[in-house]
Amino acid sequence: MRVAVVGAGSIGLAVAWRAAEAGAKVVVHDPEPGSGASRVAAGMIAPVTEAHYGEEALTPFIAASADAWPAFARELEAASGLGVGFRDVPTVVACVEDGDRAELQRQVDLYRRTARHVETLTARAARKAEPLLSHRVRAAVLATEDRAVDPRAVHTALLAAVEDAGVELRSDRVDDLDAIEADQVVLAAGCGSANFSPKWSIPVRPVRGAVLRLRAVGDQPVPRTTVRGYVKGHSVYIVTRDSGEVVVGATSDERGFDRRTGTAGAVHDLLRWSVELVPEIAEYHLEEVSVGFRPGTPDNLPLIGRLDERTVAATGHYRNGIALIPATATAVAALIAGEEPDSLAAFDPLRFNRSEARTRTLTAAPNTTTRPVPEPTTEEADS
Ligand code: GLY
Repeated sequence: MRVAVVGAGSIGLAVAWRAAEAGAKVVVHDPEPGSGASRVAAGMIAPVTEAHYGEEALTPFIAASADAWPAFARELEAASGLGVGFRDVPTVVACVEDGDRAELQRQVDLYRRTARHVETLTARAARKAEPLLSHRVRAAVLATEDRAVDPRAVHTALLAAVEDAGVELRSDRVDDLDAIEADQVVLAAGCGSANFSPKWSIPVRPVRGAVLRLRAVGDQPVPRTTVRGYVKGHSVYIVTRDSGEVVVGATSDERGFDRRTGTAGAVHDLLRWSVELVPEIAEYHLEEVSVGFRPGTPDNLPLIGRLDERTVAATGHYRNGIALIPATATAVAALIAGEEPDSLAAFDPLRFNRSEARTRTLTAAPNTTTRPVPEPTTEEADS
């Protein structure tokens, strides 16, 4: 079987790797591999602390993917000969001011619904779990089943693994999925996924985020856990790598694909909030300010599933692209093999096409000149 993957971010490469392992002849198309969200992501694998109200349908999928990550990391390291920076460390979620306690408690109520282990900590216990926490921390919880990985290292390792598996990487720019010669085509172009075919509306939009990369110098201590928190109503996270890199993120706003504006304010805010939680951060060297785009969807859930009998979507992973790599790759490999994984029930990539069509049908007045809305095809209805 010939499989074409459009997009050489981490999702596209992981899909290509799995498809090649299953015996397919795979070509990946991307003029700039790894230039999207994989380059900027912090790398939290966080089925608990990335839980958000209204996104409960994601909980089982993100949990399965998080559980698959340790083996996936080992397999990728063995296949590529490269480290991926996997860290089996918990997340401490903390707040400094009484005003942020209500938000922490609201999140804890949600975290507990993930059926994973969440432990309430006294301020003293929080500092025992994470010695670099500020002495001003008032309340905290520990999510013992969160983990982290280095997304840039993952992408580099995936490039090596797919090359070793015989995948061809082409640096061409695809404009039309129908023009690709392949038996199966996988759309994994992240934020760029919206414009590859007039047949479907793929409602992925860029949600901008700024992230800082800092580095501890010499014997400066670094957080041993992932630290998240609420500071004056703002959310911030701090992810440490074994190399001494410390990633602080992230802002979130919607200004299209603008990488240039607002970075001064983002640096100011992220430093201010993170230093409130971990004062040591002020002592580090600031190495990089990066701006990236999360591929957001209208309901914040990914678009993974069949678009038609030849085309599969694996996009719209929003905040959870890195965490969802193993589960997405496995599920898409199953789709390509003709299966219909139950795990994808909530992620039908045509769900918005259908609701748009329904709305237009319901609101169209009789005997008007409005063009008829085509019913979904059998393949779409069955996917
Ligand atoms: N998952 C982290 C972020 O979206 O910033």
